[in-house]
Amino acid sequence: MSNEPSRPGAVEAPGRWLRWPDGGGPRIAYGADYNPEQWLRHVWDDDVRAMRDAGVNIVSLAIFSWARIEPAEGVYDFAWLDDVMDLLHRNGIAVDLATATASPPPWLSTRHPEILPVDRTGATLWPGGRQHWRPTSPVFREHALRLVRAMAGRYASHPALAAWHVNNELGCHNVYDFSDDAARAFRDWLRARYGTVDGLNAAWGTAFWAQRYGDFDQVLPPRQAASYPNPTQQLDFKRFSSDALRDYLSAEREILRAATPDVPVTTNFMVMGETAGMNYADWASEVDFVSNDHYMLPGPQGQDELSFSANLTGNLAGGRPWYLMEHSTSAVNWQPVNLAKRDGELARDSLTHVAHGADAVCFFQWRQSAAGAEKYHSAMVPHAGEASEVFRSASGLGRTLAGLARIAGTPRRPARAAILFDWESWWASELDSHPTSRLRYRQEALDWYSAFLALGIRADVRPAAAPLSGYDLVVAPILHLVPAALAHRLREYVAGGGHLVTTYFSGIVDENDHVWLGGYPGALRDLLGIRVEEFGPLLDGDSVVLDTGATGTLWTDRIDVTDPAVEVLATYKSGEYTGRPAVTRRPTGAGSASYVSTRLGPAGLPPLLAKLAEAAGVRSELPEPLRGRVELAVRGDHWFLVNRTDEPIELTGAGGQPLLGGDLLPPRGVAIRTSATPSLRGDDLP
Ligand code: GAL
Repeated sequence: MSNEPSRPGAVEAPGRWLRWPDGGGPRIAYGADYNPEQWLRHVWDDDVRAMRDAGVNIVSLAIFSWARIEPAEGVYDFAWLDDVMDLLHRNGIAVDLATATASPPPWLSTRHPEILPVDRTGATLWPGGRQHWRPTSPVFREHALRLVRAMAGRYASHPALAAWHVNNELGCHNVYDFSDDAARAFRDWLRARYGTVDGLNAAWGTAFWAQRYGDFDQVLPPRQAASYPNPTQQLDFKRFSSDALRDYLSAEREILRAATPDVPVTTNFMVMGETAGMNYADWASEVDFVSNDHYMLPGPQGQDELSFSANLTGNLAGGRPWYLMEHSTSAVNWQPVNLAKRDGELARDSLTHVAHGADAVCFFQWRQSAAGAEKYHSAMVPHAGEASEVFRSASGLGRTLAGLARIAGTPRRPARAAILFDWESWWASELDSHPTSRLRYRQEALDWYSAFLALGIRADVRPAAAPLSGYDLVVAPILHLVPAALAHRLREYVAGGGHLVTTYFSGIVDENDHVWLGGYPGALRDLLGIRVEEFGPLLDGDSVVLDTGATGTLWTDRIDVTDPAVEVLATYKSGEYTGRPAVTRRPTGAGSASYVSTRLGPAGLPPLLAKLAEAAGVRSELPEPLRGRVELAVRGDHWFLVNRTDEPIELTGAGGQPLLGGDLLPPRGVAIRTSATPSLRGDDLP
């Protein structure tokens, strides 16, 4: 497949064209959410002038404009939006135009309070914030889709229109709605899934606690109950809730596609942190190009988490370029304490996304609000105005990105190691009534990613359904929910010479959250050559020591080895299971299947991962002195080197033609080398 866009600003995607903003050739798009309705008309002229100064070439418009566009039912005021669209176009700035449906106006929620979401306790989520709508409300849908039709009709042929932006961050505040509309739609979803109520009874295990249903009409969402709601009901409700929003996305998208078949449609995902509600592996094929919003989270793994999210987004996009729709120039407003970014972080964070395949870098938002809940959220133009470090840094980034145009359209280069990421295992492993309530699925996956970074080894974070071929090493942390077909794929992978690593609480249940019987790790027991009769979760503050010197927390397993070929890589040296295996590896011809029974964390995993990677023949592509201090990501022939430290790092002798940066990688700096020489690539490339 060619990396080269076939026409200016376009990238070919399976079945669709992705039309990036035309710019006379491929380029990295640069911009922000633009909310001109918060400002007087004369400010808009200043805005576009400053946008051009900053190198902005695209903005997202009208995201929260419903009340302004449709001030009363069926009454549209497009004049102001026409003016903004024309102004932007005259200034060479393209528009990612939102459908404006994210925040329903007061007239709608007043006349139709039945669109308001209801929480699990039955409490209504009232207007006053945003996104106060039920994903399954027919009334909301009728009004919202009418607005989408009006927007599409009005702007279909506007020359500024580069992409459609469906709603905004679908599910950010309203993914779980327990209303009567949701109950009705949930029943329809269950009828389609199970066909008969007996099928549902079997899947949900309703023989337990006298939960047997006689009819689908008796089924409810898992509302606040006297005790733990049925776990399969909870799991199915998560599936249903993700599907309901996806269905809404496709309803808007179909209207837009019919009106403008050539204009790509996207919606901004939230692949970040603990945002778990939307199964984006299922959503990615619903959009013409994948977009993501990411905000840096505080804490020692913040930078790793950004890279993890960008990496996963790039893999959701199938390795093709994607669009960073939002991140922040500096502080956000929604954390307990909102830290300003330090020098260099604005550019480093942006370029890390580019390193993982982003062909657009956009911020929330262009001009910092003077009023409203987000007035202390940073923007490209802060309260201090253009005479500010933030604006200077943002403008500097605009110049940097303009110099990286040749990277646009270049796909990610696959790594030889992968981490499997699975929304269903995330949901199922964190349900209530489990051996521990402390388990965090995404944290375990991130810890493994941090370990790869510490070793300087690239790893792709991939949805569990993505093909495994081409990967020598696959880590599947807490792969809890394993349908028979997935177990089969993993066996085939290992039989084909692949090296699989999995962890505690993996292989435990099938797609209905029913335990695979006969001993844990259930569906993976034979593949791993071990058997566990009882889990050994640890209390907060408790830990165990391994003979390798590593410390385990959260979980232990009482492991019996069932296959004599199994090698014990680490043994418990303290705790109830002293002397028993803690980490095992079962060689199978050319492949292997390993099991890690405790949480080793970002500090404890690297030495173990080094052994597992070595055995899989996977090594760092970086020269030794850079490993761990520099993150490597590769797009085509472009090698991105991201400083993970606050110290300058010498890149002398790293090889390749510098496209960005020199021989000294400053603290929080990013360098790009093109067509790297073997000295940068290490001596281990295939
Ligand atoms: C996103 C949202 C933006 C803005 C931003 C603040 O969730 O899409 O509208 O609220 O967060 O960080």
